[in-house]
Amino acid sequence: MPKTAADALVSRKSDFQKALLDWFHVHQRPLPWRTSPSLYKTVVSELMLQQTQVKTVLPYFDRWLRALPDFAALAAAPESQVLKLWEGLGYYSRARNLHRLAKAIAALPSAPRTPEAWRELPGVGPYTAAAITSIAFGAPVACVDGNVVRILARLTADDTGFRDSASAAKAFTALAQVLVPSLEPGDHNQAMMELGATVCTKANPLCTVCPVFAFCAGARTGQPEALPKLAAKKMERVSVVRVWCVRDKKLLLHRAQSSARRLADLHELPRASDVGLTDSTVSLSPLIAEKRRGITRYQITESIHAIRAQDLNTDLKQEKDGLHWVPLDELASITLSGPHKRWIGEMLAPRE
Ligand code: ADE
Repeated sequence: MPKTAADALVSRKSDFQKALLDWFHVHQRPLPWRTSPSLYKTVVSELMLQQTQVKTVLPYFDRWLRALPDFAALAAAPESQVLKLWEGLGYYSRARNLHRLAKAIAALPSAPRTPEAWRELPGVGPYTAAAITSIAFGAPVACVDGNVVRILARLTADDTGFRDSASAAKAFTALAQVLVPSLEPGDHNQAMMELGATVCTKANPLCTVCPVFAFCAGARTGQPEALPKLAAKKMERVSVVRVWCVRDKKLLLHRAQSSARRLADLHELPRASDVGLTDSTVSLSPLIAEKRRGITRYQITESIHAIRAQDLNTDLKQEKDGLHWVPLDELASITLSGPHKRWIGEMLAPRE
């Protein structure tokens, strides 16, 4: 007799795999990296899908493939084009990693085929290595992310309290691996992702249409949405004071240095400190917008204050220290970080 819900699931592994795959073959969304797959499309989609939802990625993916159709084109592209194509998708280190990865692949006689070899490449962690090699080369390795953790915690009614998503992923890796079939491991992994995205959702899971309902101990508890039990993320509040300064139809922007980890070479509205002022001085100027956003565990409030050019230090009227006066009609040709692009668009939009 099986001892636990996990053992019970493993003992019915092939029925589980078949139910999941049959469902996937009929119900999967026709995503462009699935309908006519290639290694390049798999790699681009997997990097774009790190921390970003499918519906956000779709227009970026199409534009990217039209501009840079293969590893060679990407390897030869200037970084400015790569960043421009990524503009608005966030987490720009992914774009730079993808660029470096393409250069590495283009320099090899053939692309690597094992997860271990892929993990040596920039931007490729265990999840991405498993996704790429299972989808493109049929490597029987499990992808374990938040979706898979949620599905497995529910299937096995595992109510362990996890400290964070990394420790939950670690705890479910062995089970996820046992469940991967040697035939069609890529479709199995994508079926798990698809189930997590469309049926076994965080809130209000659609158990009545779930292809693996019959295998699910969590559904039988009546409260599958309570699983997995993850400690709430501790959020930290941060305030940022920014400057809006227009002179001669030019907007003052700050470009992060190429060595900056997160925002290298992206333009943003300057912080008070970028223009040599303190937050409290800038805060005395008119507040024209207050924006809130969350990045990882930070809850950020950004206050944007209008400053007159004559109130800047005189030497700042020249371009230096990453500050640039960008003509308002040329804003589309530079790369702005996603939220700043939106905010600037809103602030320059004609008022009713
Ligand atoms: N999330 C990560 N990889 C994915 C894929 N290949 N399809 C759908 N969602 C994903």
